[in-house]
Amino acid sequence: MTNKSGKLIVFEGIDGSGKTTQLKRAAAWLLAEGYTVETLREPTNGRYGRRLRESALSGRVSPEEERDLFVQDRTWNVKTNIRPALEAGKIVLLDRYYFSSIAYQGARGLDLADIRARNEAIAIKPDLVLLFDLDPETALQRIERHRGETPNLFEGLEYQRRVRAIFLSLPDPFLVLIDAAPQAEEVWGRVRAEIGKSLGIRPFVRE
Ligand code: TYD
Repeated sequence: MTNKSGKLIVFEGIDGSGKTTQLKRAAAWLLAEGYTVETLREPTNGRYGRRLRESALSGRVSPEEERDLFVQDRTWNVKTNIRPALEAGKIVLLDRYYFSSIAYQGARGLDLADIRARNEAIAIKPDLVLLFDLDPETALQRIERHRGETPNLFEGLEYQRRVRAIFLSLPDPFLVLIDAAPQAEEVWGRVRAEIGKSLGIRPFVRE
């Protein structure tokens, strides 16, 4: 689906890869550059998103039900938030999108092409996807140290390995791999360069 004047930039990666930290930096930078920015995330805080969060804490639903709930949540998000923001000419920074469905629900054994088809039927294609890649051991350590959290059911190590492998196999031309292992500052340099390239912002020059 097209028909938009803004830009859709997606942040993807396994849990603990640091994508959310980078998204916040990108939002602050783009605002300072004079862009109108909207930050969104999936699962959303809407009806289906809340159900998904509850299921992550209490015991998971079947892979098929999970796949369908994510599609319902995303359908709602596209209609209510993403499309209106793009039509208003905004830069939308989105924390997770349908690539997470392919990777996470695919890692539960569902057919990747089928998950993709169901999602591409309802989703707006992004302009850029930044895929933050990190080995799952390091990601888990980051979650435990920085967030002081016990990983939830989405975050088991073996599962994260399968999720990572699927992320790395995605062939989409708008997807850029970002090595998430270095310090946040170094990763940010790369993120800024990629977003700058995509939006046509000249390096180190303010408009
Ligand atoms: P996450 O970004 O970690 O949200 P929060 O930090 O606010 O809890 O997302 C929660 C989990 O949902 C995460 O482990 C990945 C999973 N997920 C899927 O399995 N499929 C999807 O389509 C999406 C968007 C997320």
